[in-house]
Amino acid sequence: MGTVISIANQKGGVGKTTIALNLGYSLSRLGKKVLLVDVDPQFNLTFALIGMDVVNYEDKNVGTLMTRESSVEDVLIEVEENLHLIPSHLTLSAKEIEIMNTYNRERRLEKALKPIFPDYDYIIIDNPPSMGIFLVNSLTASDYVLIPLELSYFGVIGMQLMFNLMSMIREETNEGLRLLGIVPNKFTKQTKVPQARLKELKELYPDAPILTTIPKAIAIEKAQAEGKSIFEYEPNGKASKAFEKLAREVISIVEGQ
Ligand SMILES: Nc1ncnc2c1ncn2[C@@H]1O[C@H](COP(=O)(O)OP(=O)(O)O)[C@@H](O)[C@H]1O
Ligand SMILES: [Mg+2]
Repeated sequence: MGTVISIANQKGGVGKTTIALNLGYSLSRLGKKVLLVDVDPQFNLTFALIGMDVVNYEDKNVGTLMTRESSVEDVLIEVEENLHLIPSHLTLSAKEIEIMNTYNRERRLEKALKPIFPDYDYIIIDNPPSMGIFLVNSLTASDYVLIPLELSYFGVIGMQLMFNLMSMIREETNEGLRLLGIVPNKFTKQTKVPQARLKELKELYPDAPILTTIPKAIAIEKAQAEGKSIFEYEPNGKASKAFEKLAREVISIVEGQ
């Protein structure tokens, strides 16, 4: 049965899409069968994986899946043998109102994905930088949440919003939701700020697991701009090594117990 992991943070630009993409690739390179699901109307993950082909999916994407205009088989794209995608589309934002007015609106995604959970080892959901109905659907469908974080003042302060939302989800729709961990992203030793913020984070949330740190690396940005994973772009760089370490850590937490 696949384990569902939401990559979430209401803040934009913290690395959700980057981590969804490269963790997805990394897990698939380690022999896992991976499904990536893009529920961000900005479709960055979809674009990174299929480029301009996204225009062909106006009536076959995560939005039409959630409104039941499409079946799950209709919307699956095979990027690689062990890496599949359910794409987002520009039209997803317009679906929000429609979904808000349907029955069981918090469970539209969970119900649609459930039949294919057994086909994958990991289902990774990339989320928008907002706390609306798409994030609620993702968290309701998920076993775990992974929170990418930039070690800035507002980044650390903003964690509380995610923790509050997770508590609400546990109360209302998904009792079993767990925090997989926080991934400090864009980490640099050039200033002392990230180290200090990391210390603050540990003091504020002593129970939150801090996972592998991802370094700030220009290769990550360049790879994304070219629609490549970091493994294709710079296989032996420090960023690739960090993502492989993160994937192994995720596997050991999820499968180790
Ligand atoms: N570790 C990193 N080093 C350098 N650039 C990064 C890193 N992580 C993300 N980025 C860049 O930062 C920008 C925002 O990342 P993204 O993953 O799109 O954030 P989000 O999905 O949370 O909005 C992108 O241009 C991405 O390439
Ligand atoms: Mg994103």
